[in-house]
Amino acid sequence: MYPLQPGNSPIIGLEVSGIIEKFSNGQETSTDGQFKVGDYVYCLVEGGAYSEYVIATTSQMFHCNGISLKEAAAIPEAFLTAFQCFFKIGRLHEKLEGNLNVLIHGGASGVGLALIQLCKLSGLCKNICVTCGSDEKGEFCKQYGATHYVNYKENPKWSEKLSKILTNDSESGVTPLIDYILDPIGGNTYLEQDLQIARLDATIIGIATMGGTSATIDLGLMLRKRIRIQYSTLRSRSPLYKQQLVQELKDYIKDAFETKKLVANVDTVFDMDQVIQAHEHMEQNKNSGKIILKIRGDLE
Ligand SMILES: NC(=O)c1ccc[n+]([C@@H]2O[C@H](COP(=O)([O-])OP(=O)(O)OC[C@H]3O[C@@H](n4cnc5c(N)ncnc54)[C@H](OP(=O)(O)O)[C@@H]3O)[C@@H](O)[C@H]2O)c1
Repeated sequence: MYPLQPGNSPIIGLEVSGIIEKFSNGQETSTDGQFKVGDYVYCLVEGGAYSEYVIATTSQMFHCNGISLKEAAAIPEAFLTAFQCFFKIGRLHEKLEGNLNVLIHGGASGVGLALIQLCKLSGLCKNICVTCGSDEKGEFCKQYGATHYVNYKENPKWSEKLSKILTNDSESGVTPLIDYILDPIGGNTYLEQDLQIARLDATIIGIATMGGTSATIDLGLMLRKRIRIQYSTLRSRSPLYKQQLVQELKDYIKDAFETKKLVANVDTVFDMDQVIQAHEHMEQNKNSGKIILKIRGDLE
């Protein structure tokens, strides 16, 4: 689904936190002057993160600034993907009028919890809705800023359930429709309902196809509602794109992690020798937020 790019490490893993050991320029400071040996950092890498040592570029790097290495490891892929979807691609933060309604499928996923928080931080979203596989996960999403959830296992027609909830909540009695949808599920059942619940000029961003790779789309509905659907992967983006994305996220969030307006979403930490259990935990959808693999050292 996210193929290796030429020159990438065949070892899996796309994000890390850790301590800078040395620079390729042989100096104590990075060429851009932003980082020095011994700094605690987190970043995206081009593969190879399941390792004791990784090669990373400072243009895709953040300082920990008071965040533990455990929290820092949970940030890069989730927050950069989340930011990329509604903000870099969707330009949500440039909307002049607030009262936006957003819907995040897989609300309790790493990306989902990051996006809930980024939407809340924008101050532009009236309703932050999620779908997830249990009430427990739905309530968990509310702790991060979700306003409504639908348990899709109990409500396969989640769009009808969500419409009822939002209508009951609205003072006008008019059913609110959704401006932005994050869809990592896809397939017929999700995309069809996404189109039904989308507002005029809505943006639907797909980042995975956990529910299937094919769907029949009502093009007439897309036309009438002027809906934009974009699928995207972060891994295959160019180094320049990733560098710009990192800078735009930094500019957008400023000190929000240090001031706890944003929090990293750590579900469980596994030691490296428990890597199989870690993957089983994920495959069984037991996690809410990120699963961290600890290679060595103190993550606090
Ligand atoms: N395109 C990109 O650039 C990009 C970047 C990062 C991640 N991704 C992809 O985006 C997805 C989310 O990533 P993540 O790291 O946030 O995942 P995650 O934390 O592992 O969470 C995934 C969650 O999705 C839900 N889910 C799984 N299968 C489902 C299905 N068939 N129908 C409905 N919900 C389902 C499960 O929650 P419930 O218990 O609620 O069902 C599961 O816990 C993954 O597929 C990942 O590969 C894509």
